[in-house]
Amino acid sequence: MDKFRIRGGARLEGELPVSGAKNSALPALAACLLTEEKVTLRRIPQVRDIRTMEKLLSYTGASVEDEAGTVTVQADGIQNAEAPYEIVKTMRASSLAMGPLLGRCGRARVSMPGGCAIGARPINLHVSALEQLGAQVEQTHGYFEATAPNGLRGGEIHFDRITVTGTEDVMMAAVLARGETIIRNAAREPEVMDLAALLTKMGARIEGAGTPIVTIQGVDRLFGAEHTIIADRIEAGTFLLAAAITRGDVLVTACMPEHLGALVVKMRLAGAEIAEESATSLRVRCSRRPRAVDIATEEYPGFATDLQAQYMAWMTVAEGISFVTETIFENRFMHASELARMGANIRIEGRQAIVAGERHLTGAQVMGSDLRASAALVLAAMVAEGDSYIDRVYHMDRGYERLEEKLNAAGAGIERVVE
Ligand code: EPZ
Repeated sequence: MDKFRIRGGARLEGELPVSGAKNSALPALAACLLTEEKVTLRRIPQVRDIRTMEKLLSYTGASVEDEAGTVTVQADGIQNAEAPYEIVKTMRASSLAMGPLLGRCGRARVSMPGGCAIGARPINLHVSALEQLGAQVEQTHGYFEATAPNGLRGGEIHFDRITVTGTEDVMMAAVLARGETIIRNAAREPEVMDLAALLTKMGARIEGAGTPIVTIQGVDRLFGAEHTIIADRIEAGTFLLAAAITRGDVLVTACMPEHLGALVVKMRLAGAEIAEESATSLRVRCSRRPRAVDIATEEYPGFATDLQAQYMAWMTVAEGISFVTETIFENRFMHASELARMGANIRIEGRQAIVAGERHLTGAQVMGSDLRASAALVLAAMVAEGDSYIDRVYHMDRGYERLEEKLNAAGAGIERVVE
C-alpha cells in the first residue's frame, strides 16, 4: 500500500486549483440510469470512488466512457438492476443506485453497505422513504431486494434526520413516479442542488432543491443531457486550511466561495485573512499561529463535518483551547490519536474533542482512517518539525484528485512511496 513521506516546515504559496465535487459526481453518475439516452457529465474528478461508480454503471449494462474528466453514460438497456457486494463494500455511496434502478426498472438489488470508520452509517432512512413511494423492500443475504411491480407512486416523505444521499436517492426515485412527491427535512447541500439541476435538464420537474422541502412532479420519461459538476467545496476548504496551517499565501481557484461561508467565518475569527478575489477564487494568508476558535459540525449551510478533521489539525497549533463538536457522525475523531502521535494535545469526551494548542508538532509515522482524517494528517505533517510518513494513502486517492501534485506545486514536499 502506498504511503506519503512529507517534509515538515513547508509554507504554501501560489495557486491551488479545485476539481469537480466527488459528492456531486457520484449521484450525477447514478442519475444516468434514469434514461436510455446519452448523458454527458463534465468536470468529473479522476478519483477512485468515481471509478468504482463507473464500474457499477457498467455492471448494470450501461456504456461508460471517461475521457479525462468528461464522462458519457448511456444506460439504453439495464441488464442487472443490481449493486453487488464486491462493489458496494468498496464504496457505500453505491446505494445511490437504488433510487434510479427502482424508478427506471421497478426493481433494485443493492448490497447492504458494510460498516465504516466514521460510524455505522445505515441506510434505513433511504429504505423507509422508498417504501413511502410504493416500493417493497426485503433484506435477505446481505442485500436489499426492492421491487415496485406497479411502478412507484408519489408520496409524502419526512426524514427523521437530514441525510444527503438519502435525499438524493429518493429524488432520483421520485422523478419517474406517478404523481407528486414532497420530501420534508430534505438535505440542503450544494450537491443536492447540483443533482436537481441535472435532473431538471433531463426533463424532471423539481421545486425547492436546496431548501428543507423538495416537491417533485413525476414524469413519464427522462432524456439525455449535458452538465458540468460543481466545484468540490471540501477540497477547497482543505486547501484554505492547508494554506493557513503553513502560514502561507495561497489563491484557491476554480472554487465556489458561496459554499464555504461557515468555514471562512471561523478561519477569519482564528486570524486568517481571506479575501474573495473573484467569483471563483479565494485568497488566504496567515502569518501567525491561529487563535483557538470552537466549531460544531452541522448539516449545510453549517460547518461541514467533512472539514472537521482538517480544522482540528489547524487548532492543534493554535493559541489556546478549542472545542470541536461532531454532531453528524458518532465516530469521527479517529484522526485525534494520530495527531497526538505528532505532539497534539487532544482529549475526546463523547461528541466533543478538546484541543489544547501547542507551539509545534513533530513529524511521526501515522495512519489514515478515512478520506478526511488522512487529509488532516497531511496538513499537520506539512507544518510539523521533521519528516512524517502517512500510511493508507488509498483513502485520499478515493476523493482528492492529484493531491500531492497540487500541494507540491504550491511548495509542499510530499513524496508518494510505493510499497
Ligand atoms: C454524505 O454521506 C457524504 N457522502 C459524506 O461525505 C458526508 O460526510 C455526509 O453526507 C454528511 O455531510 C456522499 O455524499 C457520497 P448522511 P451520507 O446520510 O449521505 C445517519 C466524504 O468524506 N443516517 O447525510 O452517507 C448517518 O449515519 C463523505 O466525502 C442514518 O442514520 O451521510 C449519519 O450519522 C464521508 N440513516 C447522518 O445520518 C440513513 O438512512 C448523516 O448521514 C442515512 C443516514
